Amino acid sequence: AASQSSFPAPEQKIVNVAHRGASGHAPEHTMLAYELGLKMKADYIEIDLQMTKDGTLIAMHDTTVNRTTNGKGAVKDLTIEEIKSLDAGSWFNTRNPGKAKEEYVGLEVPTLEEIFQRFGRSTNYYIETKSPALYPGMEETLLELMDAYKLTGVNGRSSNVIIQSFHPDSLLIINEMNPNIPLVQLISTPLLGEAAEAQLNSIKQYAIGVGPNLNRINQDYVERVRNNGLHIHPYTVNTEENMRKALDLGVTGIFTDYPDLFDQVIKDF
Ligand code: G3P
Ligand code: CA
Repeated sequence: AASQSSFPAPEQKIVNVAHRGASGHAPEHTMLAYELGLKMKADYIEIDLQMTKDGTLIAMHDTTVNRTTNGKGAVKDLTIEEIKSLDAGSWFNTRNPGKAKEEYVGLEVPTLEEIFQRFGRSTNYYIETKSPALYPGMEETLLELMDAYKLTGVNGRSSNVIIQSFHPDSLLIINEMNPNIPLVQLISTPLLGEAAEAQLNSIKQYAIGVGPNLNRINQDYVERVRNNGLHIHPYTVNTEENMRKALDLGVTGIFTDYPDLFDQVIKDF
């Protein structure tokens, strides 16, 4: 069943999504990055999900811990205990000397449950099922946690969570389990022009919106998405110029590493 009629109403405010937390300022997918995102007035914190060997959902973009921790290996081959022993902040200081802070040293990889415990219903979460083929059952585990922390809502509008994925199969599993959960289909290369219509028509059967790459869309595409009653939240919009471009195109929200900058740009718009 489609849920696009519910959350959020298209006339509502343009949403500011803190991509991996305020990841332009602090190490992505750490509690500090999420806290900073919310301090910077983001409406949602974006969380990429991976699942450990022993079935715990964690916040991490890559399928391995190599880039964002001091460890090595695939998440699916590591236990939560092993992942919790890693330093998920020091890499940021090395990569961004101008933004380095002592407090980032030794930050842990958060589990999804710890994030829900920390913020509860005080914010909204924009959660991505990453590599779902590697992690059978990740959708069920995600929905169980959302229910346990009362984030599911009784309809799309009251849900504290939007679930996004590049993988339609993963979104369809979720839609089958609970058609009220708002879903967003990520698309790296959307079909443009008339060809967009069939793709959008299929997406709107289960999703409330699309998340395309900003570099691959145009005015015509945004109009077609909106005319289909769908939201459009392009990624990843980090410069003032691109933020203005996205707003001029008529998007209903963006993913950004700099929610503070977008908050300013929206005010002037
Ligand atoms: O989820 C939107 C955007 O984050 C998709 O790209 O690679 O940053 O997850 P990625
Ligand atoms: Ca993502």
